[in-house]
Amino acid sequence: MTQDELKTLVGQAALQYVTPDTVVGVGTGSTVDKFIDALAASGVRIAGAVSSSVRSTERMKALGIPVLDASEVESLQVYIDGADEIDRQGHMIKGGGAALTREKIVADLAQTFVCIADESKLVDVLGAFPLPVEVIPMAAAQIARRFRAMGAEPVLRQDCVTDNSCRILDVKGLRITDPAAFEAEVSQWPGVVTVGVFARNKAGVCLLGTAQGVKTMTF
Ligand code: 5RP
Repeated sequence: MTQDELKTLVGQAALQYVTPDTVVGVGTGSTVDKFIDALAASGVRIAGAVSSSVRSTERMKALGIPVLDASEVESLQVYIDGADEIDRQGHMIKGGGAALTREKIVADLAQTFVCIADESKLVDVLGAFPLPVEVIPMAAAQIARRFRAMGAEPVLRQDCVTDNSCRILDVKGLRITDPAAFEAEVSQWPGVVTVGVFARNKAGVCLLGTAQGVKTMTF
């Protein structure tokens, strides 16, 4: 099966976590696009979706799925989103699509984060994928120096301004053995908007697309 077919498989499988007439949190990316398409095709009626990006909002509206503002809901049963990496405890790296800040906000509203990913995303230790960090533009150089002091290699993502008018540093060369401690530390640096480690808001479930079918991991 191709990676695209695995994404279609898990996008479809995520429908089992959608309760009709509830509000669903919806992430961003090519895997989530498959979920959005599956949701629209399923005919399951939901009360609305809270979206994590302009990209997902536009796709859902085009397919007739009502989109609500995050401030209109107090909590969500589920948040369904992809990941760039996920470890065997449900910690993730996210932000490859530059939507990490809104993704963390919507994930924080949800009781359960359902991660949908193809098997190439499963890792033992986070960090092979360059870690996205959204930063206030005036702090980018200062934050880059802090990462260099840790022995890592930050690269300012070219031609990328986020939905929040900020920039992204992609940080190579990290080996994140304690995701919760790393997230807590970097989140405190002045000018960091969001670090793409999701440990506090880690996955509760991962639907992993494999050649043998969808494997469900719970954490
Ligand atoms: C966007 C994300 C995505 O979930 C992540 O990049 C995975 O994307 P894809 O499903 O296209 O592989 O964090 O900010």
